[in-house]
Amino acid sequence: MKRMNTLQLIEKTEARMMEMFATEHTGHDWFHIDRVRRMALVLANEEGADSQVVELAALLHDIDDWKFNGGDIDGGPKAARLWLESLEGRPDVIDRVVKVVEEVTFKGAGVDTPTSSIEAAVVQDADRLDALGAIGIGRAFAYGGANKRQLWNPEEEVEYHESFEAYKKNNNSTIAHFHEKLLLLKDRMQTESGKGMAEKRHQFMESFLDQFESEWWGD
Ligand code: ADP
Ligand code: NI
Repeated sequence: MKRMNTLQLIEKTEARMMEMFATEHTGHDWFHIDRVRRMALVLANEEGADSQVVELAALLHDIDDWKFNGGDIDGGPKAARLWLESLEGRPDVIDRVVKVVEEVTFKGAGVDTPTSSIEAAVVQDADRLDALGAIGIGRAFAYGGANKRQLWNPEEEVEYHESFEAYKKNNNSTIAHFHEKLLLLKDRMQTESGKGMAEKRHQFMESFLDQFESEWWGD
């Protein structure tokens, strides 16, 4: 088989992801992947990142998420590499894309997730933006329900996870997840335009949480 060029890789990968994630029901469906891809391309344009590497990595970023594969953090990059190798992509492109996939995911409040390229920074920001705002709220409760988490338990302790292992074991409510992750994201955005959008979406989540609590206590 002749090596595929990157545009062909993108086309094949889009079709494969659409098929794989068509009926996913925890907020990691094809539409999430497509939103992340579109947002990542906007950020890539502003930041001068390589748009083909960004698009391919955005399409592949959740291919084998640790949250659904039994906790294996290496599953995503491995699956992305296998897929791109099966298409006979260029080795240098494969290496760059796999590295981005490796650097995207959140690993706990106290765990740094640095990126080693502007392409990874852009995809990480785009993925995090989709965890914020109205869509982020919807996704959080979809994930929580699918994983048998309570909506909220006012008696539980919010945890600040110092390691990925501790974050993985966490079984708190979905409202706790806002404090353990979602509300922390705006200060961890890497691109300037990502920061601006995260700020707006953050404020929307803050007002949602205020309203939620006031309804909870019957005000
Ligand atoms: P990441 O790889 O950084 O976790 P994802 O694309 O997998 O990014 O997005 C994570 C999504 O899953 C978010 O929308 C988030 O709200 C949801 N999620 C993850 N953990 C929880 C949790 N404990 N409770 C509720 N939602 C969660
Ligand atoms: Ni994602």
